[in-house]
Amino acid sequence: MMREIPFFFLVIFAAVLVNSVSLADDTLTPQQPLLDADGTTLLDAGNRFELGFFTPNDSSYRYVGIWFYNISPRTVVWVANRRSPLPDLSGRLSLTTNGTLLLTSDNSTTVFWSSSDGSTPVRNPVAQLLDNGNFVVREEAEPNGYVAWQSYDHPTDTILPGMRFGRNMTSGLNLNLTAWTSLSDPTPGDYVLNINMDGVPEEFLWHGTRPLWRSGQWNGRYLSGAPEMETENLVQYHYKVAPQQFIYTYTIRDNSLPARITLISSGVVQLLIWVEDNQQWSVRGYTPQDPCDSVSACSINAICIPNGSPMCKCLTGFRPKNPTNWNLIRDWSGGCVRSTHLDCRNRTDGFFNQDSLKLPESSSAVMRTSLTPAECSSLCLNDCNCTAYASAQVNGSGCILWTSDLTDIRFFFGGTGQDLYVRLAAADLIAAYAESRPSNQRRVAVIVAVTLAASFLLAGAAFCIWRWKTKKSFVGEETEEKDLDLPLFDLGTIVNSTVNFSADSKIGEGGFGPVYKGRLTEGQEVAVKRLSKTSTQGVNEFKNEVRLIAKLQHRNLVRLLGCCVEAGERMLIYEYLSNGSLDKLLFDKAKSGQLDWKLRYNIIIGIARGLLYLHHDSRFIIIHRDLKASNILLDKDMNPKISDFGMARIFNGDETIAKTKNVVGTYGYMSPEYIKNGKFSIKSDIFSFGVLILEIISGKKNTEFSTSDQHLNLLDYIWRLWRNDKASESIDETIGLSFSMEEVMRCINIGLLCVQERCDDRPNITSILLMLGSDKTLIPEPRQPGFVSRDLCEGNSTSIMQYTCSNQASITILEAR
Ligand SMILES: *[C@@H]1O[C@H](CO)[C@@H](O)[C@H](O)[C@H]1NC(C)=O
Ligand SMILES: *[C@@H]1O[C@H](CO)[C@@H](O)[C@H](O)[C@H]1NC(C)=O
Ligand SMILES: *[C@@H]1O[C@H](CO)[C@@H](O)[C@H](O)[C@H]1NC(C)=O
Ligand SMILES: *[C@@H]1O[C@H](CO)[C@@H](O)[C@H](O)[C@H]1NC(C)=O
Ligand SMILES: *[C@@H]1O[C@H](CO)[C@@H](O)[C@H](O)[C@H]1NC(C)=O
Repeated sequence: MMREIPFFFLVIFAAVLVNSVSLADDTLTPQQPLLDADGTTLLDAGNRFELGFFTPNDSSYRYVGIWFYNISPRTVVWVANRRSPLPDLSGRLSLTTNGTLLLTSDNSTTVFWSSSDGSTPVRNPVAQLLDNGNFVVREEAEPNGYVAWQSYDHPTDTILPGMRFGRNMTSGLNLNLTAWTSLSDPTPGDYVLNINMDGVPEEFLWHGTRPLWRSGQWNGRYLSGAPEMETENLVQYHYKVAPQQFIYTYTIRDNSLPARITLISSGVVQLLIWVEDNQQWSVRGYTPQDPCDSVSACSINAICIPNGSPMCKCLTGFRPKNPTNWNLIRDWSGGCVRSTHLDCRNRTDGFFNQDSLKLPESSSAVMRTSLTPAECSSLCLNDCNCTAYASAQVNGSGCILWTSDLTDIRFFFGGTGQDLYVRLAAADLIAAYAESRPSNQRRVAVIVAVTLAASFLLAGAAFCIWRWKTKKSFVGEETEEKDLDLPLFDLGTIVNSTVNFSADSKIGEGGFGPVYKGRLTEGQEVAVKRLSKTSTQGVNEFKNEVRLIAKLQHRNLVRLLGCCVEAGERMLIYEYLSNGSLDKLLFDKAKSGQLDWKLRYNIIIGIARGLLYLHHDSRFIIIHRDLKASNILLDKDMNPKISDFGMARIFNGDETIAKTKNVVGTYGYMSPEYIKNGKFSIKSDIFSFGVLILEIISGKKNTEFSTSDQHLNLLDYIWRLWRNDKASESIDETIGLSFSMEEVMRCINIGLLCVQERCDDRPNITSILLMLGSDKTLIPEPRQPGFVSRDLCEGNSTSIMQYTCSNQASITILEAR
C-alpha cells in the first residue's frame, strides 16, 4: 500500500534491522567503553543517528564519528578525532569517571582525542547519543540536567537542525565549521565558515585568510544577502542577534526529514534534504552561487548585477576610478570614486536611495538600534565621515551607519533586497534625480509610491477619525469596520481618478462588480473594484475581503492599497497590474504566444508560492475558494499575483475543513467534494490549482473544452493522454519551441496529482513546491482525477464515492445568510 502514503517526503525509516554486531544502545558508561574491534556502535532512541568507528572511502584510517543511521552512503555529521586518526582497529572510546571522553588505542594509553575542555566534572557520568544527533555527557540521574560536554558545541563541517551556530562574545562561545580536507580525509581543510563580530556581525566563508562570501546582516526577516530566506517554505531560521552575539538555529517544518547544512570540502555551503524515494541528498540551497556572491567582485562603491552586462556598475553619484580599465577590459579592481567631493561643512549633502540591494560589508560599520530612519539620516549627515546608512531591520527600526568606502554590494531582481541611502554631494544628487527620471521609471515610481502610501496613511487615518467622530450615528451598520486599519480613500478622489467611472476606464468584471483603472492625481495607477449596489451578498464579501487582504502581504498576492466606504458605495483600491488577468492572454490564441514556457512555468511557481503563503505561512490558514485563471493577475514583468479574496475563508490553528450550504466558486475549478457535499479544505484549493496548471500548459479552458471526440473536459482529455503516454500532445501549440519537455511533463504530472478525485491523495502545497523545484525527484503517478468519465478506468465504480478528507477534525460552519 505504498501508494496510500502521501508523497515522498513523508520519510519512512526502515525498521531497525537486528544486526549481529550492532548493539542498539544509546549510552556510554565508564564501565562499558566502545571498542572498535567489537564493531559496536551507539544508536539513538529515535533510530536517526549512529555513533561509532568508521573509515572514510579511500582511506585506511579509523575515526570516531556520528552519521545518519540507515542512510547510504554513510553521511558523517561529526568527527571526534579529525586531527589524529587511528591507524588500525585498536581504538577504544571510553568515559572516565569524572566525565571526560577519551579515545585511546586499546593496548596503550596514547590519547588520540579527549573531550576535556575544563568543564565541571560530573560525579556519575553517562554519555548519551540523542535523537537530534547530539552526543552529550551528563549526570546519570539527571537526563534533563546539566550538560558537561556536548558534540553540538564542537561542530566539524555540519550544522544539524536544532543545532546552534554562531558566536557569543560574552560567553566565549565560538561555533564555526571547517570543511574536510577531501572526501576521504576529515582533517580540517582550508575552508571555514564563521561569524565575524567586527562592526555589525555577519557570517563569512573563508579560504585560509581570504574572505570568499559573506551573508549580509540579519535584518529581522532574512540575511541581507539572502532575501530568498523569506520565501523558503521547508526551513525556518531562528536568529538571536544582539551586541556581541550572533547565534542561529534552523528547523525543518517536517521534522522527520533528515536535513543538514554542510560546508563541503570544495568550499561550498549546502543545505541538503534527504529524499527517501530517490535515496539521495537533494541540494535545497547553496552558496556561493554566482560571481556576485564573491566579496570583492566589484571592488569599492559599485554594485554587482548578476548576469548583468557589464557585471559591475558604479553607485549613482560615483564614477570608475580608472574608466579605461573599467569600460574597456572590464577590470573592476579599481572600483569607483565620487563624482563630486562631499561638502559636509556647508551642509549641502543629501542621500540618494539605491534600492533592491544586499547591504555593504559592515565590519567597520556601526549599528544604532532604536533610531528612526529620520534620526539615522540626520546622524549620518552630521558626521562628516559618514558615507551611507540603511535601516537595520526591514520593519524600519534602527540603522547601520557606514564611515568607509562601500564594498560587496549586489543587486537583487524582483523587488527583494534592501534600501541603501548613499550620501552624495548636492551636485550629484541633482544629477542623480534628473537622470533617474526618464531612464529609471521604477525608482521614481517607488519613491512616488512610498510618498503616496505615507500620505494616504496619514490622510486615511485623519479621515477615519473624522468619520468616526461625525458620522457614526448614521452609519451604525458600519461600526464593525473600525478595526479595518487600512487607508480610506475618499469618494471624490476615486471618482476623479476613474473619470467618473467612465466606460473607458473599466477594465473588467470581478466577482461582485466592475473593476476600473484609476489614475490618482499623483500619477499612481490603481485598480478600483466597485461593489455593485444591487448585490446584497456583496456587503459581507466586501468586509471579508477587506479584513482578510489587509492582513496579507506577499509578492504573489495582489496588494490592497485601501478602501472607500461612502455614500452607499463600497470600493476596494488595489495596486494596478498592467498585464491584466491570465485568462485574457492564456485563452486567446492571438495572444497566448506571448506566454512562452519560461513565463508559464514562472507563473505556475508564483501561484504556488502565493498559495503556500495562504495555506501555511501567514498567521492563519486561508482557503481562497475561487482560484481560477481570471483571478491571477500579471504585473508588468509577468509575475503572477492571486487576487479576489471575496470568498476566502480564514481558519485558526487546527481547523482545516469546513462545510457550507452556500457552495460558491467557479464551475470547472471546484473540487468534487466541494460541489457534492459543500466541504472545503486546503485540498479544494489544490484541486483548483491543478486545473490551473493543466490550463496553463494546454492553453485550453477546463469547462469550455470541446474537441470533436467524446472527452468530458480538459481533465478527462489530459488524463487519457497521460495514461497512453501521449501527454505531450496536450501542450499548447503556441507555447514556443524552447522548452524542456521534462519540465513540462513534471508539471502535467503535478497538475494531475492535484486534481485527483480523493482529496487525501492530493499533495499539499509544500510538497508541490518541492516537486516543482527539484529535477531528480521521482513524482508519484497520479490516480483518477475528479470529473472524468468512469467507463475507462475503474469499471463500474459509479456507485457511492467517499468525498471526505480523513484524519482532520471536521467542523461545520453553517453560514448565516
Ligand atoms: C598496540 O597498538 C599499536 C597500534 O595502535 C600497534 O602498533 C602495536 O603493535 C600494539 N602493541 C601491542 C603490544 O599489541
Ligand atoms: C578528568 O580526568 C582526566 C584524566 O583522567 C583529566 O585529563 C581531566 O582534566 C579531568 N577532567 C576534569 C573535568 O576534571
Ligand atoms: C551569550 O552569553 C551570555 C552570557 O553567558 C548569555 O547571557 C546570553 O544569553 C548569550 N546569548 C545568546 C544569544 O545565546
Ligand atoms: C573556531 O572555533 C574555535 C573554538 O571556539 C576557535 O578556537 C577557532 O579560533 C575558531 N576558528 C575560526 C576561524 O573562527
Ligand atoms: C561652501 O560654500 C562656499 C560658498 O558657497 C564655497 O565657496 C565653499 O567652497 C564651500 N565649501 C566647501 C567645503 O565646498
